[in-house]
Amino acid sequence: MSNSRRNFIKKSAIGLSAIPTLGFISKSNKNSLSNIRSSLSDLSDNSYWSEVRNLFPTKKNQTYFNNGTLGVQPNYVLNSVIKDMQNNAINGAETDYKGNGPNLLSGYADFISIREKIGKIINCDYKEISLIQNATFGMNFVANGLDLKKGDEVINTDQEHGGGFAAWRQLAKRKGIVYKQAHIPVPVNSKEEIINSVVSLITKKTKLIAVPHIVSVYGTVMPIKEICDIAKSKGIFTVIDGAQTVGQIDVNVKNLGCDAYYSSLHKWLLSPAGNGILYLDKSISSNIWATLSSYNWDNNTDIGFKLQQSGTGNPSLLVGLDASLDFFNMIGKEKWLNRIKFLGKFLRDNLKTLDNVDLISSSNEILCAGLTTYKVEGVTGPELQKVMWDKERLQPRSVGKELLRHSVHIYNSEDEISRAIEVIKNI
Ligand SMILES: Cc1ncc(COP(=O)(O)O)c(C=O)c1O
Repeated sequence: MSNSRRNFIKKSAIGLSAIPTLGFISKSNKNSLSNIRSSLSDLSDNSYWSEVRNLFPTKKNQTYFNNGTLGVQPNYVLNSVIKDMQNNAINGAETDYKGNGPNLLSGYADFISIREKIGKIINCDYKEISLIQNATFGMNFVANGLDLKKGDEVINTDQEHGGGFAAWRQLAKRKGIVYKQAHIPVPVNSKEEIINSVVSLITKKTKLIAVPHIVSVYGTVMPIKEICDIAKSKGIFTVIDGAQTVGQIDVNVKNLGCDAYYSSLHKWLLSPAGNGILYLDKSISSNIWATLSSYNWDNNTDIGFKLQQSGTGNPSLLVGLDASLDFFNMIGKEKWLNRIKFLGKFLRDNLKTLDNVDLISSSNEILCAGLTTYKVEGVTGPELQKVMWDKERLQPRSVGKELLRHSVHIYNSEDEISRAIEVIKNI
């Protein structure tokens, strides 16, 4: 083994802080963000959002309404990834990957500055955050990292994505845990219906409750704080699937009071695909084993780092993640989230005026944000999706045979939503 490799491994075992983490977020890129910020200042609301639309690469005559599947990266984020990949390929020979220069590795370093930025957004310490690939990893890291035993009961809902149920069902088959599903009505119009359905399944054997913060198919914003409060009073562990949340609604993990929370940042935070987070409250995190074990598998001072070490990945995606956090902060959390809520409500208010539309998402705005699901009389979901595209170049997403799931984000406009409404009116 070469000396440099040996030194590298030594450093890895103690935290790897010497690896250049974000060396190639170049000055010019940072400047471009402050230029964007000043070009947006002083604009009226309408011009502000139409200028924001110009910061995205989607073709001008096309409309993306499928953020619930994957967000579109702003040019700023996209360019930072592309430039970093180019830099690594072109100038990789100039580094031994420990000093200054291109950063050839991800999956080994602690990336504290990125975790700190995320901690400010979701309200926790950076050591409670692991950078992971996506929500599915988060669910698996918690399910496989805990020591659940035969007979332990786990409560899930009947509205989970595969990234919210599969690891628990596998534990039922593999280890004999008892898997239960709370039934959530469709549509659901009150918090109490949800809370009662989950709480009614609790017994003395319940060890864990795993529920989504926003339901994938219907966009329901679930009463997580209320569920976690009840779980905590009974000593039950809570795991929240926030794949659809960070960047869509305000996520304050301390206020929610959950033990574990995971999210896919490539959806609503508009990070490059392959970026997610796992949060573990520091009071419980030392009870969780690393599922992907590497040098830091037994690091008990920075448990977030222990769980994020995953071997070599694409370091440029982390540069892109960092850029997406800066982009989000440049717009500002409140402005960003309010815009999504405003557009979501605009869509729902318009849909409610149409006789041929069945709103499948909740009609209670407290339970809604940027994802809305509906059915139009006489057409299937895939047919409606096709008509929207053929007539107006609008791209929402069908779900199953009947439904259309319509996401709205800061790059969408009232005009685009009104055009979708016109298409539906003329069906
Ligand atoms: C609620 C929910 N959980 C989990 C996932 C899985 O996310 P990922 O594919 O990013 O792991 C999704 C994806 O749409 C989702 O909506």
